Amino acid sequence: MTQEDRVGKQVEKQACSRRDFLKFGAQTSMGLALGGMALSGCAGVPMTQANTTFRSKPLGNKVRIGYVGVGSQGGGHIENLSKITDAEVVAVCDIREERTKWAQDKLVAAGRMKPTAYNKGDYDFLRMCETEDLDLVYNATPWRWHVPICVAAMKNGKHAATEVPAAPDLEGCWKLVETAEKYQKHCVMMENCCYDRTELMIFNMVRQGLFGELLHAECGYLHDLRGYKLSETAYQGMWRVYHSIKRNADLYPTHGLGPVAWWLDINRGNQFDHLVSMSCNSRGLSLYGAEKFGPDSKWAKAKYKLGDVVNTLIRTKNGQTVLVTHDTNLPRPYSRKILLQGTEGIVRKYPEQKIHIEGTSPAHSWEKVKDYYEKYDHPLWKAMQDKSEGAGHGGMDFIEDYRLVECIKEGKPTDMNVYDAAAWSAVTPLSEKSIAKKSGSVDFPDFTRGKWKTTPRLEIMGV
Ligand SMILES: NC(=O)c1ccc[n+]([C@@H]2O[C@H](COP(=O)([O-])OP(=O)(O)OC[C@H]3O[C@@H](n4cnc5c(N)ncnc54)[C@H](O)[C@@H]3O)[C@@H](O)[C@H]2O)c1
Repeated sequence: MTQEDRVGKQVEKQACSRRDFLKFGAQTSMGLALGGMALSGCAGVPMTQANTTFRSKPLGNKVRIGYVGVGSQGGGHIENLSKITDAEVVAVCDIREERTKWAQDKLVAAGRMKPTAYNKGDYDFLRMCETEDLDLVYNATPWRWHVPICVAAMKNGKHAATEVPAAPDLEGCWKLVETAEKYQKHCVMMENCCYDRTELMIFNMVRQGLFGELLHAECGYLHDLRGYKLSETAYQGMWRVYHSIKRNADLYPTHGLGPVAWWLDINRGNQFDHLVSMSCNSRGLSLYGAEKFGPDSKWAKAKYKLGDVVNTLIRTKNGQTVLVTHDTNLPRPYSRKILLQGTEGIVRKYPEQKIHIEGTSPAHSWEKVKDYYEKYDHPLWKAMQDKSEGAGHGGMDFIEDYRLVECIKEGKPTDMNVYDAAAWSAVTPLSEKSIAKKSGSVDFPDFTRGKWKTTPRLEIMGV
């Protein structure tokens, strides 16, 4: 077997594939029959009504959580949840026993109950969903597991929350939407970057009309991940690099796109309409593999489908354009770009935060964004600033966890719903399709089935 064949076999095993769902469907004891579960648009599918402002019943008790996937990001969420009084982690699940033990110790040391551990293999989350009395199943597992875990949670009467992206393909997006509608459960994709200080402040400024009519945005995920993708310690089992081998697409669109979608009222009076994508050559991972492991190593010789820079241009139904960039294989400082432009001004976050508002800023000149904090910080940021200090990714991870728990406990609509999870995550399969069609135009599905037209704007703490 050649080196390339061996890598190919691992790709087969590790990367997302429809067979995961089929296998999952066959294994589950709940009669989910997921493999045969009909998808939207398939004949004979009973459609439930889209419910874009879904509220669940308020809970009289703390939110009882089963956590799946206690790796790098999941570990951070466990720490956050240990500090949120209204949350109780009652079960933890990971294929690695040392990680469930870590979570148990962490929670007990924080004065919380010791959660039951589930670590009997890849599908033990099913046993957890079937046997535990939970309000919410929250996961931070590799991408291929997000849909099976969320679906298992909802079918067992639990709300679901997942790390980003919610689903790797359109089938998965539809499956989340249809399961959430059928079982009337929340299914939230946890996009922490919506809760960063600048993004929240821009949200507040947009609501106050500072930029006039919004016309264009730029965003993305520009993060040199070479050392992580090709490390045996970063992503357990090196799951992430296999996606770069298998797919040429924007693999991680939601960090930049989530906040932009909030500003543009996507799924609430506006929608992503269509996109075109283009990618450049793939060089970064092969060069890095050769330098780190030698020119004959499997990581130097592997064929990486992912172009080093993937650009996607989206047009919304209300006529705005959004440029989304994915750039994870080259040497560069971190950025999510973040630029918003309207008829009355422009703001950008990276590499340096700058703003220009007509009539306020000196003509043709930038001002510093931090000079606007005092007047325009979002009330959520102001309320949470002290509590979130020191938490993951500058505090935004704590704020997102806090909001999730608060909304579920109080029976409020969550800040991000299943339609957002689907529309934002759909950029991966749609960009893949566009690239494969020489940058052909690809339409977004309407996951809300028309409800976006009447769904009211998102409101967080009165803004
Ligand atoms: N929002 C953010 O800023 C952010 C940052 C990093 C990662 N993430 C997301 O978090 C998720 C996890 O990424 P990570 O970097 O923590 O990866 P990781 O490999 O460190 O953690 C994944 C964990 O899931 C466990 N796992 C794998 N399969 C499982 C299964 N079937 N059942 C139970 N546990 C299983 C692994 O043992 C591991 O502990 C990904 O979706 C990633 O995109 C988000």
